[in-house]
Amino acid sequence: MRTHRCGELGKDSVGRRVEVCGWVNRRRDHGGLIFLDLRDVSGTLQLVFNPLVNPEAHRVAESVRAEYVLRAEGTLTARPQDGINPKLATGEVELYPERLYVLNAAKTPPFYIQNNVDVDETLRLTYRYLDLRRPSMQKNLIQRHRVVKMVRDLLDSRGFYEVETPMLTKSTPEGARDYLVPSRVYPGRFFALPQSPQLFKQLLMVAGFDRYFQIARCFRDEDLRADRQPEFTQIDIEMSFVDMEHVLDLTEQVVASIFRAHSDQPVPEPFPRMTWEEAISRYGTDKPDLRFSMTIEDLTEEVADSGFRVFSEARTGGKKVCGIRVEGGAAFSRKELDDLTARAQELGAKGLIWMAFADQVRSPVAKFLSEAEISRIMDRMRMNRGDLLLAVADEPVIAYKVLGALRLELGHRLGLARSGWQFLWVTHFPLFEYSQEEGRWVSMHHPFTSPVDDDVPMLLTDPGAVRAKAYDLVLNGTELGGGSIRIHSRDVQEKVFTVLGLSPKEYTEKFGFLLEAFEYGTPPHGGIALGLDRMVMLLTGSSSIRDVIAFPKTASAHCPMTGAPSRVEESQLDALKLITRE
Ligand code: AMO
Ligand code: AMP
Repeated sequence: MRTHRCGELGKDSVGRRVEVCGWVNRRRDHGGLIFLDLRDVSGTLQLVFNPLVNPEAHRVAESVRAEYVLRAEGTLTARPQDGINPKLATGEVELYPERLYVLNAAKTPPFYIQNNVDVDETLRLTYRYLDLRRPSMQKNLIQRHRVVKMVRDLLDSRGFYEVETPMLTKSTPEGARDYLVPSRVYPGRFFALPQSPQLFKQLLMVAGFDRYFQIARCFRDEDLRADRQPEFTQIDIEMSFVDMEHVLDLTEQVVASIFRAHSDQPVPEPFPRMTWEEAISRYGTDKPDLRFSMTIEDLTEEVADSGFRVFSEARTGGKKVCGIRVEGGAAFSRKELDDLTARAQELGAKGLIWMAFADQVRSPVAKFLSEAEISRIMDRMRMNRGDLLLAVADEPVIAYKVLGALRLELGHRLGLARSGWQFLWVTHFPLFEYSQEEGRWVSMHHPFTSPVDDDVPMLLTDPGAVRAKAYDLVLNGTELGGGSIRIHSRDVQEKVFTVLGLSPKEYTEKFGFLLEAFEYGTPPHGGIALGLDRMVMLLTGSSSIRDVIAFPKTASAHCPMTGAPSRVEESQLDALKLITRE
């Protein structure tokens, strides 16, 4: 029906016969002349209708409304000098159609099909097909397509093969709840949708595939956030005969190439590295945002003989006094300081000490502190005039977490983050962490992560001290990916299951197929998975991964357009031998 897409037409096509199709973006009636912006996925083209030249086409143009679907035919002309629109890719040309056809009419849409209009997200998702007509959304999805294509090409050129793995499978423990699918053939039994292809990609290594990747859909029933969806996509990678350095090196090359090709910000390499320990104690998180400093400092020694008991008693109680320096924060109002204290308590601190260093030191505890102590604190924190100290005395985990969260919130509020890409590898994670809630050790990554060789003897005796061959890739404070070198011996894998509290009967039932595979010649292997949605979110400057997924779920895990999840027919439940309870 057409010779060109609207956005492809420029000066070099002037004088050509063109036929275009698209949607009415805007119609302006200038008493006599009618201007229509015709939109398709490539951009918009201005159509002009003059009743004296083409009365018939003009008559049709009079009848059309926003979002009507049109087809227009004519000869492309250059715009007069004063009509040129430099902001539009097709701004130098326009079309005076000789014929205009209405291919379909449209109701008035529930919101404007334009970038940057403030529309309630539920409404956007209810009419997602209209929301996706917005050029900014089309740009996001096209960018996503290009990224995926580049990933496939890059990995193919390095000898990786893409292999698909099952969607109907057995539960893999990535730490979230599974989505279950009842089996009709085996009533009472369920498939689980994969939380990741983890076990299958390892089995592909056993099978000899050497270098695998997959643009893999994953499903996790967990609490949703701006960067979490119940169904999301990973760039999933696994390699045999490698150590951690190989995986980091390959990943870094792929990621750096993508970010260079799809943004104009520099990508400094090599990506810096930080141990998990340092990330936690200096930034209060395992995904530090290094675009600004404001690191957490340990003040325990400096205030050990303080007149303020919360400070002096910390050390003897095995606690720490930690602080962050807020540049220029001495100007905060009393209300802002009270709000920060309330926020610290909400995050789990018992309180928050603030000290403002202006002409004199202002602090609710100033009267308890000696001059010498104040100057030790100032030195340690490298305080300047006008700065604010925020300090917490508590168990280290709490002090780090609270100050790390305040650091992030203040960093955003004060606009401290410099622009550009700040990548970071976090390494040397512990293999396990103790879950108070469950009263047992749980895997920090997943149960297939290899311990550091030297630490294997401690597996059963001191699990908390065992380090993992695991790594996370962080970008601007977002966890972009994670992976590890895997266990490839049955013996070590069984020990890890034992630490996790699984009996031989339980682990054989759940993972017997993997343990058995380990006995048929498993190569050493490792890999990583990168969150594709998060990557494209950051590349496109979007604030939510929902803006880079064509049909996402809402934050409350449903689809307002289709109404899923929905009830099903009684007969379907009968076939599955299921009875529901509400
Ligand atoms: P992990 O669980 O760390 O590792 O997931 C890898 C990456 O996937 C992304 N991601 C998500 N993105 C959107 N919504 C979600 N709900 C979501 N959950 C995770 C993140 C994360 O870094 N099998 C291992 C990988 C491996 O060991 O190779 C795994 O899945 O960007
Ligand atoms: P209190 O002694 O409880 O009246 O607290 C005196 C001040 O110390 C208040 O400003 C509290 O917010 C603060 N504070 C109390 N406990 C802590 C703590 N563990 N860490 C930091 N500040 C605290």
